[in-house]
Amino acid sequence: MKRIGILTAGGDTPALNATIYGAVQRACEHGVEVIGIMKGFSGLLDPRIPHVRLNPLGTVIPELDPCLGGTLIGASRTYIDEGQTEELKKIARSLERIGIEGLICIGGDGTINGMQPLSDYFPCVLAPKTIDNDLGLNYIDEPNEWVLEPDAEADKPVYNKLPGRNEITLEEIINYVTPGYATAVFVCAQGVQRIRTTAESHRRIGIIEVMGRQSGYLALGSAYGQPDIILLPETCIDAPRLVERVAALYTLQKHVVIVVGEGIRDETGCPLGDTRNSVDPAGNILYSGAAEALKYLLTKQLGDDFFRKNNRHRNAHEAIFTRKVGHTQRGGRPILFDRSCASQLGGKALDLLVESQNNTVATLQWTQDNGLTVDSIAANKLRDRWREIHPREVHPSFYDAQRFQPSRLGIDYLRPIFTHAIGTDDMEFIRTDLFRPGNLYTRYQSINVDIQKRIQMLTPQ
Ligand code: F6P
Repeated sequence: MKRIGILTAGGDTPALNATIYGAVQRACEHGVEVIGIMKGFSGLLDPRIPHVRLNPLGTVIPELDPCLGGTLIGASRTYIDEGQTEELKKIARSLERIGIEGLICIGGDGTINGMQPLSDYFPCVLAPKTIDNDLGLNYIDEPNEWVLEPDAEADKPVYNKLPGRNEITLEEIINYVTPGYATAVFVCAQGVQRIRTTAESHRRIGIIEVMGRQSGYLALGSAYGQPDIILLPETCIDAPRLVERVAALYTLQKHVVIVVGEGIRDETGCPLGDTRNSVDPAGNILYSGAAEALKYLLTKQLGDDFFRKNNRHRNAHEAIFTRKVGHTQRGGRPILFDRSCASQLGGKALDLLVESQNNTVATLQWTQDNGLTVDSIAANKLRDRWREIHPREVHPSFYDAQRFQPSRLGIDYLRPIFTHAIGTDDMEFIRTDLFRPGNLYTRYQSINVDIQKRIQMLTPQ
């Protein structure tokens, strides 16, 4: 193999450049040239395939910095599906014209679903990334628990998951963790700590909404910031018990901090934050408003009198506030754990292509004896009977729904990821970079400007 392509698809995550870097460095060792395809699948669908050479003369270009957040080759939420046969054939032809013999797709569940049809026409492998940490399986048989069933209210069949296993071991998890998750949790947990002091000082209830769609890993990891209550999308809210717990905590400590995953669901299983009733190009629900919906619930259930007692607040509306951690959890410099995993997965993805693998996923496996190591799995193993790959959910055994906190196993799951996740260089970077006087008089220098100068195009045939 002489030349391969690489692209980043879906929402950005902090360690994308680190994954690209790992792949390009390994490629240099193998004497392989790496071509970055601009803006994910949308770059592939452009007949000119805008692209950049990432290691001309066997040297990594200086713009590719593994410590930079975002992705120097751009990303998009454009995907391809199996019905687009003509487009798929055109993509394979165009890649061959550039001399590309295999493609590394860096992405999450949307990307891997998009990669499936392409792999029938062109060799592809996936290097996982997603702050949601939802790419993988709790155990190997999990895809077989999905059933596609007719739904009286929907115009097409819907997916339902049959009850799965009650217990798992950490060693059977397929793809233990994805790059981007640790940095996002780092931001969320700090957010919880910062909101805490305001809630505490002003005797308020702070509700913090974190991302993750239907997967609650970000909310689970936020436990490091010590919120009083964590609500995961995977466990339907038991409103009376929740209200009782909030009231008890408020009475005790005069404030409460609650973390909610954006996909949390009410007693009937309906997402509280699905207020826009719309989806993105990959078919994912666009969540918004879970924290606000929870505020509404608590405002109604606790009532104004609960807060008026002892002159705490004039009413419940004033006492309860909501904040979204928002896109700050997806952006910025990746912490050490993410950089290290990402570059190893990038290197592994390159190896898989060189070994002539197709439709394979580079993974991170955890064992008690060896910790985290890179491995791989055939993407087909992640698909259900209808060929769909579903986001992984937090296994019920990771959450203690009585205490609204991670369970013992949930804590055991988090520890190998986070105990040494922050490097001394991460702290040194904050110390020396943020308040650098030069920041005040130098304009931000965007990577897009430099990369633009390197972009090449195919002449359409
Ligand atoms: O999948 C990553 C993710 O950050 C989700 O957690 C979140 O719901 C979504 O992307 C937000 O997407 P966008 O940036 O397109 O609003």
